[in-house]
Amino acid sequence: MTALPRLPIMPLLLAAHILSVVLWIGGMAFVTTVVLPALARLPAGQRIPAFLEIERRFGRQARVWVLIAGASGAGLLARLHLEGLMGTAHGLWLDAMIAFWGLFALLLFVAEPAFLHRRLQERASRDGEAARVLLLRGHVVLLALALFVVAAAVLGAQGAG
Ligand code: HEM
Repeated sequence: MTALPRLPIMPLLLAAHILSVVLWIGGMAFVTTVVLPALARLPAGQRIPAFLEIERRFGRQARVWVLIAGASGAGLLARLHLEGLMGTAHGLWLDAMIAFWGLFALLLFVAEPAFLHRRLQERASRDGEAARVLLLRGHVVLLALALFVVAAAVLGAQGAG
């Protein structure tokens, strides 16, 4: 009887991790650098409703990418036995990945449904442009943080940490 080929679990986990991060952070970069600036061309009262319509669709995808990034990351962590690095000077890149992931999980699964969207709509009903600018600033900060974490993850995983 021929033995079944062994699945290359590690490369598959890493591929799932990187693909989910690419789709998640790439989508966020598109919203930040293309969608939010382009909304300025709509009448002020339509800017936030248009954003929420786009965000409703992207938010669904982002939740899936965040779950896959977290699950594959946990799998990599366990298989590579890197738990001991967490909380040490050489493991700061790992802590940064996990902290960023936790921040996004909170935003997408707790804060948005609980109050963020409602607060945004209230603010937009007073001043649509001020709400768009606030949203743009928040996205710029999150994107800068995401790019920093990706760079730190690559440098750390390649042994520069
Ligand atoms: C619960 C959350 C996460 C965990 C437990 C986790 C864990 C890991 C582990 C163990 C590796 C493999 C390191 C190696 O090959 O030595 C890795 C790779 C990587 N992670 Fe994460 N990660 C998480 C979230 C994230 C997030 C949020 C990002 C980006 C914003 C990210 C970006 C990356 C990148 C770019 C690599 C590839 C590094 C390389 O091989 O050069 N991870 N992650």
